[in-house]
Amino acid sequence: MTKFTNANALIYGAAKGIGRAVAQEFARRGAQVAVADIDLAGAQETAATICAAGGQAVALRCDVTSDTSVREAAVGAEIALGDIDIVMNNVGAIMNGNPEDVPIGEWERIFSLNLMSVVRSNAVWLPKLLARGRGHIVNTASFAGLFPYATTRMPYVASKAAVIALSESLALYLHPQGIRVSCLCPGPVMTNVADGMKQWSANLVMQGPGSGLTVLRAEQVAVTLAEGMAADRVIIPTHDEAWEILRRHAADPDAYIQAKIEAVAAGDFGHPKMPVTP
Ligand SMILES: NC(=O)c1ccc[n+]([C@@H]2O[C@H](COP(=O)([O-])OP(=O)(O)OC[C@H]3O[C@@H](n4cnc5c(N)ncnc54)[C@H](O)[C@@H]3O)[C@@H](O)[C@H]2O)c1
Repeated sequence: MTKFTNANALIYGAAKGIGRAVAQEFARRGAQVAVADIDLAGAQETAATICAAGGQAVALRCDVTSDTSVREAAVGAEIALGDIDIVMNNVGAIMNGNPEDVPIGEWERIFSLNLMSVVRSNAVWLPKLLARGRGHIVNTASFAGLFPYATTRMPYVASKAAVIALSESLALYLHPQGIRVSCLCPGPVMTNVADGMKQWSANLVMQGPGSGLTVLRAEQVAVTLAEGMAADRVIIPTHDEAWEILRRHAADPDAYIQAKIEAVAAGDFGHPKMPVTP
């Protein structure tokens, strides 16, 4: 069972949003945290909030699209904290466009950020964790990779589905060797992930995962992740409703897809509800 007390964690992509909330939650549970992000000022801000709350954290600049940078951040985290117990690959970018409008270069950019960033991290961390026979790898995917709805961001869908498949196979391979693997699958979460999002088609309404879902705060997601990791869970969705959706999809994929087509035709784009604020 993964313990956070006195564990050392490195999070790639924690200058804001879900990564920042996870860094803070790990620290609250007693971990020392290395915050690696392309946005160094944001990473420093995350680390500062942790230190201000009495925890220990360092900030490192890292671009996860570069093998060298991912390796340098790993070394920087080890120098600052010592052996790393938890590695979280959280960077991800979204885009919006019909598939016929999305250039190949955009597929490559999204795959580099969302999938190859995990592969680059594994190239650095698997030998280290295997040599020690312990550790926990966490990869961030999305509901978009779990079940079909996100027709306006297919590179995102395909890269996140690949992250889920990779995480599950890694779990099969690594659990017998003492290393845990978890895959955080967020549904809608209130962050600025859509800021600066590239648009490849005009006036395109983004598809959401379901109008029955509520948008969560990143802090809630961080607690769900930490509890899921402590319970040694592999697939950790942020919303419990995901299991019922998955059951319906698995029971009859054709019927599921047909129902989704009909819902969109009727004007239901699956947009989640905003939380009711008191
Ligand atoms: N917010 C949601 O609703 C939602 C839903 C499903 C999945 N996710 C996934 O959760 C993860 C975090 O998303 P978020 O909503 O917190 O987004 P965010 O944009 O707030 O955070 C992403 C972080 O990644 C960093 N980053 C971007 N490019 C980088 C690079 N090349 N190298 C290093 N760092 C880089 C950013 O600076 C930022 O700190 C992503 O993988 C995203 O796909 C989010």
